[in-house]
Amino acid sequence: MPVRYDEKTKIFTLNTKGSTYAFGVNPGGYLVHLYYGKKLPSTEGVEKLWFRGVYDSLSPQSPYVEDPCFSLDIAPLEFPCSGAGDMRITALSVRGKEGNAVTDLHYKGHRIFDGKPALQGLPATFAKEGEAQSLEIALEDRVTGVTAFLLYTVFENYNAMARSLRLENRGAAPVDLERVYSACLELPGMDFDMVHLHGRWAKENTVARHALHHGLQGIRSRRGMTGPNHNPFLALARQGTAEETGEAYGVSLVYSGNFALDLEVDERGSTRVLAGINPDEFRWRLEPGEGFTAPEAVLVYSDEGLGGMSRTFHKLYLNHLMRSPWAKKKRPLLINSWEAALFDFDDEKLVNFAKAAKELGIEMLVMDDGWFGDRHDDRRALGDWQVNEEKLKGGLSSLIKRVNDLGIKFGIWYEPEMINPDSDLYRAHPDWVVCAPGREKSLSRHQCVLDMTREDVRDNIFGQMCDVISKNNIEYIKWDCNRHISEAASLALPPERQGEFFHRYVLGVYDLMDRLTAAFPHILLENCSSGGGRFDPGMLYYSPQIWASDNTDPIERLTIQFGASMCYPASSLGAHVSACPRTDINTRAAVALWGTFGYELDPYKLTEEEKEAVKAQVADYHKYYDLTHYGDLYRLTAPTENPFLCDWMFVSEDKGEALYTRVIMRRPDKTYQLARLRGLSPDKIYRDEETGELYSGAVLMYGGLDLSARSWQDLGDGTCVVKHFIAQ
Ligand code: DGJ
Repeated sequence: MPVRYDEKTKIFTLNTKGSTYAFGVNPGGYLVHLYYGKKLPSTEGVEKLWFRGVYDSLSPQSPYVEDPCFSLDIAPLEFPCSGAGDMRITALSVRGKEGNAVTDLHYKGHRIFDGKPALQGLPATFAKEGEAQSLEIALEDRVTGVTAFLLYTVFENYNAMARSLRLENRGAAPVDLERVYSACLELPGMDFDMVHLHGRWAKENTVARHALHHGLQGIRSRRGMTGPNHNPFLALARQGTAEETGEAYGVSLVYSGNFALDLEVDERGSTRVLAGINPDEFRWRLEPGEGFTAPEAVLVYSDEGLGGMSRTFHKLYLNHLMRSPWAKKKRPLLINSWEAALFDFDDEKLVNFAKAAKELGIEMLVMDDGWFGDRHDDRRALGDWQVNEEKLKGGLSSLIKRVNDLGIKFGIWYEPEMINPDSDLYRAHPDWVVCAPGREKSLSRHQCVLDMTREDVRDNIFGQMCDVISKNNIEYIKWDCNRHISEAASLALPPERQGEFFHRYVLGVYDLMDRLTAAFPHILLENCSSGGGRFDPGMLYYSPQIWASDNTDPIERLTIQFGASMCYPASSLGAHVSACPRTDINTRAAVALWGTFGYELDPYKLTEEEKEAVKAQVADYHKYYDLTHYGDLYRLTAPTENPFLCDWMFVSEDKGEALYTRVIMRRPDKTYQLARLRGLSPDKIYRDEETGELYSGAVLMYGGLDLSARSWQDLGDGTCVVKHFIAQ
């Protein structure tokens, strides 16, 4: 049983195949964290681990615990609350009818059950009975009557655990929630590096790693969306942890709005991590009888370095988060019109694209931005989701029929959350826009944000989308989102509920995505937010792929893809071969094979030689589909660590084949180049498919694959080496 409770010691133990998480209920009814790390075959003595140093006279002594050494201010706590003695960052703060925000939760009871409940209105990992076991602990605040249900779900086969929280106001008066985090993780000591992903538009998901220091640190979003600036993921790597060795704790939040991953290293050098909704500009009124569900945080433990942590996230998210039928169904190889045509297309151009695509072996044409309303540039028409028949003469059905007749599937672009002031929708419903009364609205890319907190707004957009989708053979949708939220307020919410705006916005987006995917389950949904600006687990729940970046330069993409792979599986990474001249087309394809793979270029501008290359790439896409989509990723050399080259490989689960890729970013300083491969079976004999040479897995991993220069042309800027190894 992964979840156990010992009545005698009052200790909960949550075991996976390789990790143990333990905490207990102390005499005051507080949940005290004891241990998280490598699996403990026996937990004898684990109860002693609650002690993290003696408190001094400045720390309040709890009136509920007789032990003079106990203070909420120093004890490692499973779910720390504000105001009753803990002076560190806390997970919950509830302001009651007397106006103070003292919050003090005590244990009331628990239940252990098979499977995993869904989270109301929120994306979350899922598991059938037998795939996971859950623990729900009820805690009560005796003054306000607020009851908290902490939910833990243990994925035994993954070294992973999902956590969330539901609050219920069982008191007689309304309360205001001011901080609601989903999970707290207490790690002893501070000998950790924080690993996280930062970026900006066209530069998403750059890995950063730095040592923890005393005090507050962490990453947050206040943009209404997750944003490219910080991803809702971090890892705490014990100092010395490397790619394949050492301990790492991954924290990933299944949420697409204002998030916070906060850390505090206290004066004794103990580390607290909180994951949840950003408390800035958050306040939620909970009337008696009402409930509030916090988003899910996923924790992963690895003693196989950051690589082991990433592979756990990849498998868990592929099998237990990406709920689309397309998650594990072979996806069509697509060509997208954006970089080739921008807004300048008509039906003829698109049919011609489809013809050219067909000759190359491409399977789907995606018509990007510009097909609706009066949309000739990015200044107008968002919100008017009717087909522009001046551009698409004969209408959409006729265009799709012509494309389908060529044997090509058809996909379409939407930006459902947005509206241009120059649109019929805006002229009809100016109050549907996010805006603060009495203040000017800031535009971004000439657009405003629709108030997704409102059901009438969502109904309208959903209705408009259904109208087009239900009448046409659309098999793919790209859901874009090209601005963040300012003047955040809803004209439909009363003043005392304006603090709910940001979270309600995200719930509204989830509701719309839920409705869309339920109404059209056959459609492959790809998310996008000016590239990878909303690359988060919440979006993965609805769409099995997310456009990773508007930056399609293959060398730049390496940093972006290495970063995204910290948490997200290759099958979710939207990656296309574009017309970027920095490398030849084969290197562009080698990089795009790391992701969903597709094209983003004008097929008529390809040379004959490039067309032959594309046909070979299409064949490779099919040949390596299972390996890259379901295999294990090993990052060998990161582009942020080596100025000259980077390499990575995919290994099939049964270790029967592997695909190794090396990209030379700049001619290396050394001509002697040896790549030590990873993830193979040491005992198997592998054949290099290209040369026929045989190697044992051990030779390739411990000795290495010789990739030294044989002539001066070898190892040139922007070149690549791709090797397919097949076990004999
Ligand atoms: C931003 C996206 O990232 C692009 O791929 C493209 O769809 C444009 N928006 C269209 O406006």
